[in-house]
Amino acid sequence: MACSSPSPAGETEWPASFGYGRSATPAEISAKDIDVRPDGKGLPAGEGTVAAGKVIYAAKCAACHGKTGVEGPFDKLVAPPITKDAEGGRERKAIGNYWPYASTLYDYINRAMPFNQPGSLSADEVYSVTAYLLFANRIIGADAVLNRKSLPLVVMPAHERFVTDDRRGGREIK
Ligand code: HEC
Repeated sequence: MACSSPSPAGETEWPASFGYGRSATPAEISAKDIDVRPDGKGLPAGEGTVAAGKVIYAAKCAACHGKTGVEGPFDKLVAPPITKDAEGGRERKAIGNYWPYASTLYDYINRAMPFNQPGSLSADEVYSVTAYLLFANRIIGADAVLNRKSLPLVVMPAHERFVTDDRRGGREIK
């Protein structure tokens, strides 16, 4: 048969198609294509404010992360940037002291939170709760508005703690 694929030696030829499955539509692909890169590429339209995020946080996040983001029972979301003195200390790694890119907050919350209902927040809600958490970590002001343009411009305190591993070839220790 002209359109069949080569088969492993000794077996009958495989058909060109097994008759199930189909190509994904552009709409199906874009529904899954939600990654946001460190430079903000992939961020959707929409925007959010600290004030709106505070309300969403209280309703949808506080039960697991605490009233002010430090009480738990799950991950601490508010942590001051590590100061020189505290470096090497015991502060748990968290958004304010460890995350190098603000856009990662959007990506993570959008794909994974609330833990019991991931994917349930609108773009405006994710921008808002991201704004609230950055404000609570004292990284942006109370009147900041986040959208696909402004979020990538937020510089995280821990950014400079990371270096790009540009080693090439053999063993080189930075
Ligand atoms: C039902 C409990 C629950 C709710 C509700 C919830 N979270 Fe979480 N959250 C978790 C758990 C558990 C983890 C740790 C997940 C892991 O490590 O895989 C987590 C991790 C996180 C982290 C990563 C923290 C870090 O430094 O690694 C962020 C950010 C976060 N949640 C934000 C939110 C936001 C924003 C909301 C509300 C929209 C929310 N969460 C609602 C349980 C919850």
